[in-house]
Amino acid sequence: MIVTVNRKAHFNAAHRLYNNEWSADRNEDVFGKCANPHFHGHNYELIVSVTGEINKRTGFVMDMKVLKDLIKDKIEEEFDHKNLNIQLPEFKNLNPTAENISVVIWNKLRSHIPKKLKLKITLYETPRNFVSYCGE
Ligand code: NI
Repeated sequence: MIVTVNRKAHFNAAHRLYNNEWSADRNEDVFGKCANPHFHGHNYELIVSVTGEINKRTGFVMDMKVLKDLIKDKIEEEFDHKNLNIQLPEFKNLNPTAENISVVIWNKLRSHIPKKLKLKITLYETPRNFVSYCGE
């Protein structure tokens, strides 16, 4: 039986979306309020989903305590209350859109989760806007 287990997590972070090669007006046209040069924050809600066979000995797909600690160490501690553009090297040359943040999170977690399990990231930037990434 293939089952997906999900763990929710949360972080607050600031960002600015912009393209250096564009004028201020064009950045505002494309990115709206997210282009604000003075940065702004979002309350990001993260769902980490792990899919695989139920282990016959434990009855788990993955120990949720292990998943919880992994998300805390690798994501929450690194992202919470940070300015993503300035404080995370991953976004030095990468726009911290919800799309790119979800890819960065997937990459940070993938090597810590057993290979036979599938990993999917769902990231809410606002209660109505969310993205998902499964590594493809
Ligand atoms: Ni924004």
